[in-house]
This record gives sequence, C-alpha cells and structure tokens, in this order.
Amino acid sequence: MFRRAVTETHKQGNELVALCDVNEKRLALSVREAPPQPGNGIATYAAVDFDRMISEQKPDTVIVTVPDYLHHEYIVRALRAGCNVMTEKPMTIDLVKLKAVLDAQQETGKNVTVTFNYRYTPARTQLKDILLSGVIGDIQAVDFRWYLDRVHGADYFRRWHRYKDKSGGLLVHKSTHHFDLMNWWVGSTPVSVAANGKRAFYTPATAAALGLEGHGDRCQDCPVFDRCDYRLDLDADEELREMYLDTEDADGYYRDRCVWASDITIEDTMQVEAAYANGVFLNYTLCAYSPWEGLEITFQGSKGDLTHKHVEVHGVFGGQRDKAAGENMTTTLHLAGQRPQQIDVWAGEGDHGGADPVMLGYLFDPATMPEDKYGRASSHREGAWSILTGIAANKAIATGTKVDVDAMLAEAGIELGR
Ligand SMILES: NC(=O)c1ccc[n+]([C@@H]2O[C@H](COP(=O)([O-])OP(=O)(O)OC[C@H]3O[C@@H](n4cnc5c(N)ncnc54)[C@H](O)[C@@H]3O)[C@@H](O)[C@H]2O)c1
Repeated sequence: MFRRAVTETHKQGNELVALCDVNEKRLALSVREAPPQPGNGIATYAAVDFDRMISEQKPDTVIVTVPDYLHHEYIVRALRAGCNVMTEKPMTIDLVKLKAVLDAQQETGKNVTVTFNYRYTPARTQLKDILLSGVIGDIQAVDFRWYLDRVHGADYFRRWHRYKDKSGGLLVHKSTHHFDLMNWWVGSTPVSVAANGKRAFYTPATAAALGLEGHGDRCQDCPVFDRCDYRLDLDADEELREMYLDTEDADGYYRDRCVWASDITIEDTMQVEAAYANGVFLNYTLCAYSPWEGLEITFQGSKGDLTHKHVEVHGVFGGQRDKAAGENMTTTLHLAGQRPQQIDVWAGEGDHGGADPVMLGYLFDPATMPEDKYGRASSHREGAWSILTGIAANKAIATGTKVDVDAMLAEAGIELGR
C-alpha cells in the first residue's frame, strides 16, 4: 500500500529511495514490482544495515511496516537519526516499548504518524460527523462489537500474530483500530479497564472435534489439508506464493502455520469494560471465529441513540466467504420520542471501504486535500492511547483485576497527557 502510494498514486513530490528488510528475496520482489524510480532507483538494504541506509539515503520519512513487536526498534532509530516516521498500527505492543518510542519522540521533536486507516472509512467519519453535531446529546455509554470471520480471524493464528509477545494479542494488534476509533469518536481516553479473554476455538480440542487429529505444523504437505476448512493454500494464490512461499527459504518464515497448534498464546474471545475520562462507559467484544464478519456499535446519548452496523461478510461456507455486496451498512438515529430514522450512509471507493485513498492523500499529498475538520491525523499520542486500552485489558486478564490506567502509566514511568 505504501510503496504504491509513494511510487504510483502520489509520486508527485514523493520518491521512494530505499527499502530495508530481513528477507533479501522479498526485498528483490518489492523492487521488481515497483515502477522505475528517478535518479539511482530504489536502493535495498539488509535489516542489519538500517542505520547505513539512513546515513546514505538521508530520507525525510521512514515508513515502518515490520511485525508489531519490532516497530519500536525502527521508530526509535529513525527518530534519533533525524527522520520523521510513519508507522503501521499498533504503534507498539507493551509499556516498555511505548516508553522508548515516547522518549525518543520527545527528545528529537520529530513527528510520528500512526496510519489509522479506519478513521477515514467514509461511514465511520460520518459517525464522527453526527456525534460532533450533538444530535444525540451527551454520549454516556457505547456498546461496540467487532466480529472476525473464520477466514480473516483464523489468519491471526498462523504466524507472529499468534504470540502475545509478538503482537500484544488481538486486544492490541487488532483492537488498536477499534479503541482508536472509540477514543476519537467520543473525544476522550480511558481511565479504568476490566477484561476477560480466552482461547476457546483455535485449539487442539477443536481440531479433534473436527476430526483433524494428525494435522501437520503447517498447511503445506499437511496430512489433513483436504479436510480442513481453515487451510491456507499458498500455491493457489499468486500474491501469497510470490511473497511468502517462494521466499521462505531465505528466513524460515512460514505464512501458513497450523491454526490448531498448542503453542498459541493469544485469545480468540475477548470482552472489555472501560470507563473514560469524560464519563463515557464502553462495553466491547471481539470474537475471532464468528460466522460472519463486521461490526455493530451503539452510542447511547442523553437525547437518543445512534447505531451503526456493517456486514462485511455474510458467512463462511466450506472455507469460502460469501462477501456482502451493496446495502451492507446501516446507520440508525433514534431520538427519544421519535421514530428511528435510517441515515444515508457515506460511501467511498478503494481499499478498506474507501479509507485508504483518503488517508494516503492526507499522508502523501496534503496540499491537495481539504482541511480535515474531523481531526483524523494521528500522532504518537493517539498511537499511544489506542494501545493503552488493550495493554490494560491484557493486564486485567492476567491479574483478574480492574486496571487503573494512570497508575499503570505511572508505574511504567510514562507521562502522557490526556
Ligand atoms: N492498517 C491495516 O489495516 C493493516 C493491515 C495489515 C497489516 N498491518 C500492519 O502492517 C505490519 C506488517 O504486517 P504484514 O501482515 O505485512 O506482516 P508480514 O510478516 O507479512 O511482513 C513483515 C515484513 O517485515 C519483514 N521483517 C521481519 N523482521 C524484520 C526485521 N527485523 N527487520 C526488517 N524487516 C523485517 C518481513 O521479512 C516482512 O517482509 C504489521 O504491523 C501489521 O499490524 C496493518
């Protein structure tokens, strides 16, 4: 996404000068896929040569798209080398790494931008627009449920995401988007967090119940490949084959590890209850094995409520998804004493429901974009607050107690204004 933005859709005023990766084959593939660049073209560097890349190429901005547990390493090194940083979500995954990022940002004064594309989905921007209008009065409580289906959800159980120390678990890796939306929609930050979480579905017991005992460690050459609806066929998808299967001998990174493995350490069923500094309550559910994919949210206000539902996928049948088409989003405004009104949902074209083209415009060609009255740009502060609900929820699950966010930050030596 970023490579295309810099070299194709927003190439005016931008230049991709170098790529850095631990896998030389994937690096070469990425250069082959990019259009030729002016000057000396796209230089490539092994991960160990990251600092040399910065000193030789002198980039203005470093874009970080490595696995989550490594974000802080590159963010900190890029900031200290005098660069601005754009990073994929989550900004990082735990308090120690968060402190390293915040300290480096404060010491250098350079910018960290977290690329929260979900804020830019037109339907979600519209919710912000409606809430800003004040039509439902003061927001008091929010019910927010996000469902991942058995194709998308299963994918988090195949590779680095499935280990808490690599992704922070889904409450950080995935929910960073949702908690960021929540913070932005209600205009506040969490003060206390309670949570429950368990791995109920992607387990050896489910494999046994499905008659999949004797499965392999990965889908390639798995003895039960044909019978498993959760298999990932890397050979069948050209993009996945080129990117992962054809490059795996360079670093031993297997994209298709078994979702029934016993060493998985993340949850697939999670609920969070949070209280916000402005008095709003949140009730949140994330499920990674739902029969359908999408979200439901209700904002309860003093004058009425606002409900949004988005069905992205109707269901998964025999491993195949039935993608929802057309009228798959509804927004309902129900003011006290009135009948519910269906709102025409804002729509857009492009990836992530029309979010990515808008976000990329603001990131790479801001002069051509209108002033953003919704304040969608996200710095290290929004990046930090978006992960703190998940980090606190992980702590709440581990300790069985409600977590006071300010006390948690103080204990970690982190000062972060609200
Ligand atoms: N915003 C979104 O909607 C969205 C969607 C998907 C992924 N993401 C984020 O993008 C990031 C990448 O996800 P992905 O699925 O592409 O992961 P991936 O594992 O497929 O790709 C990561 C890349 O980093 C490289 N890498 C690994 N270790 C490295 C190191 N030490 N130094 C340099 N390079 C290294 C790998 O070789 C690989 O090319 C993650 O942070 C993820 O959370 C965001």
